[in-house]
Amino acid sequence: MNDKINDLLRRVEEFKPKAAAEVEEFRIRILGKKGELNALLDEFKSVAPEYKRELGQKLNRLKSEAIERVNTLREQFAAQAAAAGSDKAGDMTRPASSEELGSRHPISLVRNQITDIFSRLGYTIAEGPEIEDDWHVFSALNFPPEHPARDMQDTFFIEKNPDILLRTHTSSIQVRTMERQKPPIRVVCPGRVFRNEAISYRAHCIFHQVEGLYIDEGVSFADLKQSILYFAKEMFGEHATIRMRPSYFPFTEPSAEVDVSCNLCGGKGCNVCKGTGWLEIMGCGMVDPNVLEASGIDPHKYSGFAFGMGVERIAMLKYGVKDLRLYFENDVRFLHQFDNAL
Ligand code: DAH
Repeated sequence: MNDKINDLLRRVEEFKPKAAAEVEEFRIRILGKKGELNALLDEFKSVAPEYKRELGQKLNRLKSEAIERVNTLREQFAAQAAAAGSDKAGDMTRPASSEELGSRHPISLVRNQITDIFSRLGYTIAEGPEIEDDWHVFSALNFPPEHPARDMQDTFFIEKNPDILLRTHTSSIQVRTMERQKPPIRVVCPGRVFRNEAISYRAHCIFHQVEGLYIDEGVSFADLKQSILYFAKEMFGEHATIRMRPSYFPFTEPSAEVDVSCNLCGGKGCNVCKGTGWLEIMGCGMVDPNVLEASGIDPHKYSGFAFGMGVERIAMLKYGVKDLRLYFENDVRFLHQFDNAL
């Protein structure tokens, strides 16, 4: 019996399993109910009294050593598994890790809203290049050669060539559309524009505009006003009203700036509308005959109107966003607020 105990002790000490499952097998084989240790304890019952003391002590040592060995090995394997992150067969009741759902950027949402509203009036979408030439951004739009908007301060020129530049407005797409298409023309032109401006809560060097153009026989200022009123009501709600103030743009004559009644105070005056009850939303006017002519459209036969608005500005007014920079930082805490915006 002494030999058997020694043999088992040696096997316990030398046991070097390769996997956690082997430890469990080992535990059952040695320490289990029908295991080798219990078999020895059975045998111990019939040992002669003079050997009982010595063998009993040895058996106790064997038992505690076997238990300790199993426990240490179990801990080692658990630590290894945790380090490898391979707890695949682990706790099946743990909640699954959640998948983050993306959402549309508020600028995309509002741009789509704008183009959807005009598509209900029969407008289609036209697009153009971001890298443009002087003709499409300025000259064809009746900007005199010395006009300050061509100034280096506003315009990003490409490689010091004054003819190639980043478009400063989407009005360039008007020109491209008129060069390509015969009237009737009814297009909305969404796109990114670039201006060399310092970044602040109200200005950015990259922003988005939607331009609109309607050319046909007999188009009047009344058509323009009614179309903008329809847009304002669809965008800001049935209660919205508009007013037009005389203004100047080189490419329209007459020109106007459009204000919408402040949707935050209902026109009473608040800090967003600076007490006036009105918010500026776009520029517009009747397309200057020079512009029609430059793009090959007969100004004696056709007339038309154009308008242009900033998408960031419309989104700010609609959702009460006070700092334009939030649109560009992509902080998900900001973006998630628009998950159910439409
Ligand atoms: N292009 C002008 C801007 O960037 C906006 C604009 C004003 C567009 C009047 C128009 C218009 O078509 O008629 O500030």
